[in-house]
Amino acid sequence: MKRILWLAAIAAGSLAVGGANAAPSVERGDYLVNSIAACGSCHTPLGPEGYVATQELGGRLVEETPAFTAIAPNITPAGRVKDWTDAELAKAIREGVRPDGSVIGMPMPFEVYKGLSDTDLASIVMYLRTVPAVENDPGTSAYNVPLPPAWGPPITSVADVPEGVTAEYGAYLAGPVGHCTVCHTTFGPQGPMLDTALGAGGQEFHGPWGTSVAANITPTGLSGYSDAELATIITTGVRPNGSRLLPPMSIGHYAKMKPNDVQAVVLYLRSLPAK
Ligand code: HEC
Ligand code: HEC
Repeated sequence: MKRILWLAAIAAGSLAVGGANAAPSVERGDYLVNSIAACGSCHTPLGPEGYVATQELGGRLVEETPAFTAIAPNITPAGRVKDWTDAELAKAIREGVRPDGSVIGMPMPFEVYKGLSDTDLASIVMYLRTVPAVENDPGTSAYNVPLPPAWGPPITSVADVPEGVTAEYGAYLAGPVGHCTVCHTTFGPQGPMLDTALGAGGQEFHGPWGTSVAANITPTGLSGYSDAELATIITTGVRPNGSRLLPPMSIGHYAKMKPNDVQAVVLYLRSLPAK
């Protein structure tokens, strides 16, 4: 019952803000989670063949550093999120706070999730309630560094960005939805320097593939590619010279992006201040 009331409130809110986007839907949530948002790039267990299809969103160890051991929990209906209301689950995703008040740790990209629109957030929650329950307990994270007291002030409402092949919608997709900007921005002591080094790259990722370095995705880094080439790189992971992108670029997810959404992201990347 709580769930229905909350979703109705969200739907009414988005109508009041202009009603440009449709009401929240499982389909929209499915599309976002499994394409550009790529929640499974952290939350789905990895086997020798890649993501384990039968254990989608069942949780796994994401990153082990001296500072922390980050384990993305099981977020299927078999995880502890099953006991949370939809509003509580939404708050966890957008604000990084659990119902018990504890703060959720990195590297879940809360720097940008605070900008998820009410409609998209509600859609993601609706979809997570429909995924197959996966019986898996990946364990618990340990942080040796203090987590921030909060990822930002409490959020009441975020309006939709009108969907279209525009740099504005691309910015929304590459930021709050897809967190492309978090990986591709130079890291400082406080995390990604989104204000001063947006898209400048430089962050290193270590894994079975060795070390990959997030590319500069401002016009300085991407000037050698046409728009069509850039779209192909993002959705296939193959550059015009035939070389393949290393993880953690989540190509398997980005391959499912709608062509218009890819174009919007490309327009946005072209509009970034050159770094
Ligand atoms: C870059 C990796 C990463 C991505 C991408 C990511 N998460 Fe997470 N998520 C984590 C980690 C790690 C934790 C646990 C942090 C901790 O233990 O404090 C977490 C925690 C959570 C929690 C809290 C669950 C609980 O039981 O405490 C929820 C809900 C969640 N994520 C949902 C999502 C959704 C939905 C998406 C996609 C929109 C997503 N996450 C994308 C890494 C990620
Ligand atoms: C989890 C971190 C992460 C996320 C999220 C991410 N990237 Fe990347 N990206 C990387 C890394 C690391 C590389 C370098 C791979 C390599 O060198 O093989 C890369 C490479 C690229 C390249 C190739 C650039 C070149 O010069 O060849 C493009 C383009 C790109 N990313 C765009 C995007 C877009 C668009 C998104 C969001 C839809 C995105 N990335 C999300 C980490 C990430």
